[in-house]
Amino acid sequence: MTRFSRITGTGSHLPPRRLTNDDMVALLAPRGVETSDQWIIERTGIRARHFADDGVFASDLGVLAARAALEAAGREAGDIDLIVVATSTPDMVFPSTAAIIQNKLGIAGCPAFDVQAVCSGFVYALTVADAMIRTGSANRALVIGTEIFSRLLNFDDRTTCVLFGDGAGAVVLEASDKPGILASDLHADGKHVGILCVPGHVSGGQVLGDPLLKMDGQAVFKLAVGVLESAARAVLDKAGRTDADIDWLIPHQANIRIMQGTAKKLKLPLDKLVVTVDEHGNTSAASIPLALDHAVRAGKVKAGDTVMLEGVGGGFTWGAVLLDF
Ligand code: ACO
Repeated sequence: MTRFSRITGTGSHLPPRRLTNDDMVALLAPRGVETSDQWIIERTGIRARHFADDGVFASDLGVLAARAALEAAGREAGDIDLIVVATSTPDMVFPSTAAIIQNKLGIAGCPAFDVQAVCSGFVYALTVADAMIRTGSANRALVIGTEIFSRLLNFDDRTTCVLFGDGAGAVVLEASDKPGILASDLHADGKHVGILCVPGHVSGGQVLGDPLLKMDGQAVFKLAVGVLESAARAVLDKAGRTDADIDWLIPHQANIRIMQGTAKKLKLPLDKLVVTVDEHGNTSAASIPLALDHAVRAGKVKAGDTVMLEGVGGGFTWGAVLLDF
């Protein structure tokens, strides 16, 4: 019998502190940094984002999302035999945020590790967990995207600091005799490291180099539009499906213009596009599972629907996963 993996539960968590665009205007004004609600909405579609309080870490958000996903799947933490966490904002340099989440869930023994592919992290993590389930290395995985990007932001740089937020999303992925995950397609091109990066590193007890996010927004924008279409076409081909089979498109939530452009290229009506960037901002590896969970809980994504997940971000990395929910 062929083994597949399928999502049996979703969950998410946003830290309670919500900042509107006007809150960002007020936050930046004392620094002499000007922005406006109108600019942010017109260029990005973002109206608000959530920031975690001091002392809250990616594992804290991730464990709450994981518990919600377990409850939705009707499972206990003890049923889990694999934890894969996508994050670029880990609690520590090491050990992994996955190991910390495992301990906070009160379980031990199963493999737990992080995947670092920035905003493509969740599609990478889901693909790794799917492969481990298909090959029999795991039966029931937690796949989590969790980020505290607010700690990486340079609040003197208005071209980046208004774009990002904090949050976490998770799915329970279980072995199944019917798919589930139909196909994935992952890529990276390291020659574009410089267009989106946090170049600092820890050495000799100090942070060397700049530990704040840098982005050439226009370069990222141009690359993103092209690769999101090619990754979507690749997974449709691999799965033997067409554009018309997609019930829901859940792209990385970075910019409404990129998301709508991708939907247009796939000839999808905009009501099939799941949008949470307006309320969450760009939460990097957390954005796709956050959007998926919100769409499931809103009664949009239902059992049997065909869903296209698409990530794109630092690396440069990109990829897509096509699944039957
Ligand atoms: N408020 C007001 N004005 C601003 C702001 C701001 N927050 N930021 C920039 N501006 C100004 C600029 O200074 C510029 O002014 P000028 O014309 O006088 O020089 C003007 O607005 C236009 O700036 P652009 O950079 O050309 O604006 P653009 O339309 O390209 O939008 C943006 C910028 C939103 C960043 C866009 O390029 C984008 O979304 N890029 C893609 C980002 C993305 O997809 N990231 C995904 C991956 S994230 C990850 O992996 C972590």
